[in-house]
Amino acid sequence: MNQIEEAKQFIQQKLNKQEPNIGLILGSGLGVLADYIEEPTTIPYEQIPHFPKSTVAGHEGQLVIGELEGQTVLAMQGRFHYYEGYPMEAVTFPVRVMHALGIEQLIVTNAAGGINENFEPGDLMIIQDHINMMGTNPLIGPNPDELGPRFPDMSQAYSKSLRNLAEETANELGQTIRKGVYVGNSGPTYETSSEVKMLRILGGDAVGMSTVPEVIVANHSGMKVLGISCISNMAAGILDQPLSHEEVIETTERVREDFIQIVRSILKKM
Ligand code: HPA
Repeated sequence: MNQIEEAKQFIQQKLNKQEPNIGLILGSGLGVLADYIEEPTTIPYEQIPHFPKSTVAGHEGQLVIGELEGQTVLAMQGRFHYYEGYPMEAVTFPVRVMHALGIEQLIVTNAAGGINENFEPGDLMIIQDHINMMGTNPLIGPNPDELGPRFPDMSQAYSKSLRNLAEETANELGQTIRKGVYVGNSGPTYETSSEVKMLRILGGDAVGMSTVPEVIVANHSGMKVLGISCISNMAAGILDQPLSHEEVIETTERVREDFIQIVRSILKKM
């Protein structure tokens, strides 16, 4: 049995015939959303065969599976980052397992630095598209055909229908919502001011250290993706102040209510 299948079967054994249909990856400071899941089954990552372990402060490491707004969701409370030293295959392994479990729609969330000068810390941004600046790609290597095509189309990496749904939902809730392009850097350093200028010229609106690998693998698997960034700080050089992980966590805590409200309302309509 392969690794994906083993992890899938382990998770299925823990569920009471629940069949999750939507995956949620909760970024830095955004894991609280999983606390609202009803009748939760919680599985620490270290128990799941072939799952890597999460190491960074502010990230929990467990799956929470249960009911939220009429959907059966499987949430990752904490994700694996490339900068932690995991190979790309490990970073994206949970997405493979989600797909094997029958999940066809994925909501990815993250904290990101604002590059667009019209943005403010605390804004939520619907990811329209991404730019991969990680210097690698999780699909490099042999391509098992059962996982997806050798050369996957990425022209609608973030589903247009889900983006529209998210925007409509924000409007109905009276929430300000931004839209923009997410740039994925490897980290773990934040960017230099010059790098931020470059990313702006290249068409980026926000920058972070995650999401791109998972979204590539979700597309490879044929899943529909919605991405939401919480602009936790302005990227380096935009304001005359240094960046800190504390600021990132503080801002995500401040926008927690809006974030929870919009994701729940989107789920209800999916
Ligand atoms: N840069 C990169 N990653 C980030 C940032 C940033 O400014 N803020 C939160 N994650």
